[in-house]
Amino acid sequence: MKCHKCGAAAVIQMRQHRLQLCAPHFIEWVATTTQRAIDAYQMFTPADRVLVAVSGGKDSLSLWDLLLNLGYQAAGLYISLGIDEGIDYSAKSLDMCHRFVLEHHPEARLHVVDVGAEYGQGIPVLARTRRRGQTKPCAVCGLVKRHIMNRVARDGGFAAIATGHNLDDEAAVLMQNTLHWQTGYLARQAPVLDERGGLARKVKPFVRLYEREAAAYALVRGLEYIYDECPFATGSTTNFYKELLNRLELTSPGAKQQFYLQFLRARDAGRVTFAEGGDLDLQPCARCGQPTTAGGICAFCRLWE
Ligand code: AMP
Ligand code: FES
Ligand code: ZN
Ligand code: ZN
Repeated sequence: MKCHKCGAAAVIQMRQHRLQLCAPHFIEWVATTTQRAIDAYQMFTPADRVLVAVSGGKDSLSLWDLLLNLGYQAAGLYISLGIDEGIDYSAKSLDMCHRFVLEHHPEARLHVVDVGAEYGQGIPVLARTRRRGQTKPCAVCGLVKRHIMNRVARDGGFAAIATGHNLDDEAAVLMQNTLHWQTGYLARQAPVLDERGGLARKVKPFVRLYEREAAAYALVRGLEYIYDECPFATGSTTNFYKELLNRLELTSPGAKQQFYLQFLRARDAGRVTFAEGGDLDLQPCARCGQPTTAGGICAFCRLWE
């Protein structure tokens, strides 16, 4: 298998692009693809300070590495959730983030927020003792992560929060939203969510990259990352839809990309429209000052009551 650009040994074949590349050309291709997405959706510019939410996994560490190499002002944020579950999940993933900085970008700044130390309880305990976390801690966890990301972005004056969501993540969510015709979610599912009412701007620079490409990037760049998924994510609906889409992709390469990117194009061109379902009336929470639709005290603050 030879690189289509230079004829050297290729390290990856991307059937959906009918392209196979050697290591240096693959790195270059990931950078160009990501830069194009950043420009196309006007995510941020080199003048902006960006907060990259890093989980210790391949997507977010690859993203952070790439943004730094592209010359962006990118600081990292790791939220320690206190998840052990016999595999030392949170401690190991934090370690990956520290090692990333030490070994690859000693100049980079990593912000760490430890939920247990700062608020008194980690996610597993918090979820077990709250009604909304009884079945799975993921909803509580999502709420906590969103709140902390927003807080750090606001306090630190960052122009945007960047997450490592890739095309597989987005296509799986799109499939789920479509199968349930969740039009409000379909209206909001986007590579960029603008700042509104005190909610920081959110961007996903890897939306055009397959998960497998983000993993290959990490491998080729020699980035160490945590292979384990969050132990609570096994059997999640998102993973189920990802598998379905991957089966489709096997028989028709590019199906995943087609599904998601054509949705974005159709919606952005106004060929399909979805209503958000009522204006979001955001008010500052009486305790923490972060925006909430509930009026009074936000869902995050109510968690700790
Ligand atoms: P997930 O929902 O686990 O697929 O993660 C989606 C994105 O959220 C990742 O790519 C990261 O950018 C971010 N993220 C997930 N977990 C954390 C964490 N513990 N700390 C900071 N960011 C995170
Ligand atoms: Fe939050 Fe798994 S990362 S429950
Ligand atoms: Zn090459
Ligand atoms: Zn609050």
